[in-house]
Amino acid sequence: MRKNRIIAIDGPAGSGKSTTAKQVAKRLGFTYLDTGALYRALTLLALKNGIDIESEGELVNLLQQSKFQLQSQGDDIRIWINGEEATEAIRSPEVSRAVSMVARHPAVRREMVQLQRRLASQADVVVEGRDIGTVVFPEADLKIFLTASLEARAQRRLKELHEKGVEIALHELKRDIERRDAIDSQRETAPLKKAEDAIVIDTTELTIDEQVDKIVQAFRALAEQRRKSSDASGVKNT
Ligand code: CDP
Repeated sequence: MRKNRIIAIDGPAGSGKSTTAKQVAKRLGFTYLDTGALYRALTLLALKNGIDIESEGELVNLLQQSKFQLQSQGDDIRIWINGEEATEAIRSPEVSRAVSMVARHPAVRREMVQLQRRLASQADVVVEGRDIGTVVFPEADLKIFLTASLEARAQRRLKELHEKGVEIALHELKRDIERRDAIDSQRETAPLKKAEDAIVIDTTELTIDEQVDKIVQAFRALAEQRRKSSDASGVKNT
């Protein structure tokens, strides 16, 4: 039986998953796994190698031949693809535009899910993505689904990109996000969807600290509840 504890955070682009997941992990002393970074890494590699993102077979081959390493450093997660750092490159608008087409392929997802389960098997972990509560870890201890208005999500992404020196117009970003959300929600395999037992948090009007607090509190309440019920069953047994 699985011993490590898992918090699953899902939601659409720009809903605040990454920042929230990182801080929840920090507060609880968990590790953090960004599954979107893995789909982005494969996409970057495919674009660089001129691989057709419609070709499921070629993408799976590429994934099987590649090595991705993730490492947290302060508040950042750095990623290396076959030994070469790609932390910034995987966040480019070009990769963002192509990634949903790569992530639609069932065989790519099968490989990715295996990789993600392996990466999350060693420690208590906060895992963030689109299908974590529904497919990758349906038995997660706590499931969170973050949402926010399209306007708020686009504004947040614009600020992030501008801080990195990437120039892009708000209307363009909105269109890209809407398109990506549509592909992610409508694909046949593991679409972006709230797990039935997930707690929904609308972050439109929340600060990062507020949303982190809500999740940490929900996790602590759950742990307390479990402790009480195991104490109670302990009493019955004696
Ligand atoms: O950070 P942002 O919300 O822009 O997206 P991300 O988490 O980096 O994920 C990028 C893309 O990867 C998503 O739009 C999905 O197409 C795909 N993805 C997925 O299909 N399943 C996951 N568990 C995580 C990401």
